[in-house]
Amino acid sequence: NKPVKVGLLGLGTVGTGVVRIVEMHQEDLSSQVGSPIVIEKISVKDREKSRNIPIDHSKLTDDPWEVIHDPEIDVIVEVMGGVEQTRTYILEALSQGKHIVTANKDLMALYGTEILAKAQEMKCDVFYEASVAGGIPIIRTLIEGFSSDRITKIMGIVNGTTNYMLTKMSKEGVSYEDVLKEAQQLGYAESDPTSDVEGLDAARKMTILGTLGFRTNVELADVRVKGISGVSQSDIAYARNLGYEIKLLGIADRDDDAISISVQPTMVKASHPIASVNGVFNAVYVYGEAVGETMFYGAGAGEMPTATSVVADLVSVIKNLRLGVNGLKQIAPHKPKKLKTDAE
Ligand code: NAP
Ligand code: HSE
Repeated sequence: NKPVKVGLLGLGTVGTGVVRIVEMHQEDLSSQVGSPIVIEKISVKDREKSRNIPIDHSKLTDDPWEVIHDPEIDVIVEVMGGVEQTRTYILEALSQGKHIVTANKDLMALYGTEILAKAQEMKCDVFYEASVAGGIPIIRTLIEGFSSDRITKIMGIVNGTTNYMLTKMSKEGVSYEDVLKEAQQLGYAESDPTSDVEGLDAARKMTILGTLGFRTNVELADVRVKGISGVSQSDIAYARNLGYEIKLLGIADRDDDAISISVQPTMVKASHPIASVNGVFNAVYVYGEAVGETMFYGAGAGEMPTATSVVADLVSVIKNLRLGVNGLKQIAPHKPKKLKTDAE
């Protein structure tokens, strides 16, 4: 088979990890998909910026359209972030018949329905495993692993930055400001970390998990959100003295068909498994009527864990390309949604 040519939008934390994994595991990846995988073109904001991987400069462009309109490219991997402009790029790439892998939860939470509908119209794949919980394969688990069940609760720590911050503030007494800077340097935080600390990133992820888990159309506006910017070191110490840890928890549940979703700092009993999820790690608890309790744990942000999910999606897309099918039914058969009111 001739090589599959991939266009990469973004070469920051996640994009760098994607290039590394494709290089590092090329032999194994090629044998899985039946041909070499070639990263053909990469769009960045600044071509002259120094990079911490060796990269063939001629592959870099500062014009994403060059990547999207390259007729040789079959799959676009979007790891640049942003919403409105990125939506335009993705919709145009789909119009060109290109398959998409993205790590962009902001985009999928806001425009997922539109993008997946376009993908269906164009018979293209859109995979977005890395958009929630970094290296934990929770999206394919909800779509495929639990297709046989009725999920009634999804709860967890879905933001690595804030969990890293709360852990360091609790266990090492590091200040909020210092630990936020550390999380940014480690590549965990969003380009504007307000969305991490104010809970918006977690809310976007809960929108995606709620939509897939409950097979309904959860919207961002349905999620009640409170972040950790109001959590002080004395709140954390107070909770600890009482035998609790403060965690930023996303909670989505449903009774009958009414759902409620929230993100907020929550006191978790120290003996509960969620309380011992520390640092950049995430954990997602899923309760299904038939399966009962399940829990998924792993790194929720950072270069290599996130890139693991991105490249796994790339492998799935290329396998589908080879078979001439569109895989992982990413569009849930949406049922009308009913929200629980506060009074219920
Ligand atoms: P990042 O380090 O800030 O990298 C962004 C990349 O996109 C950079 O290479 C930047 O170019 C390029 N870029 C930004 N705006 C551009 C524009 N207008 N035109 C062309 N190129 C542009 O971001 P990241 O942390 O890798 O995150 C990327 C995406 O993955 C985001 O959607 C994020 O939410 C998601 N994500 C991140 C993580 C994580 O742990 N970091 C985990 C899961 C999902 P330059 O290199 O020239 O600046
Ligand atoms: N900023 C996000 C986090 C990146 O800290 O969880 C992973 O989605």
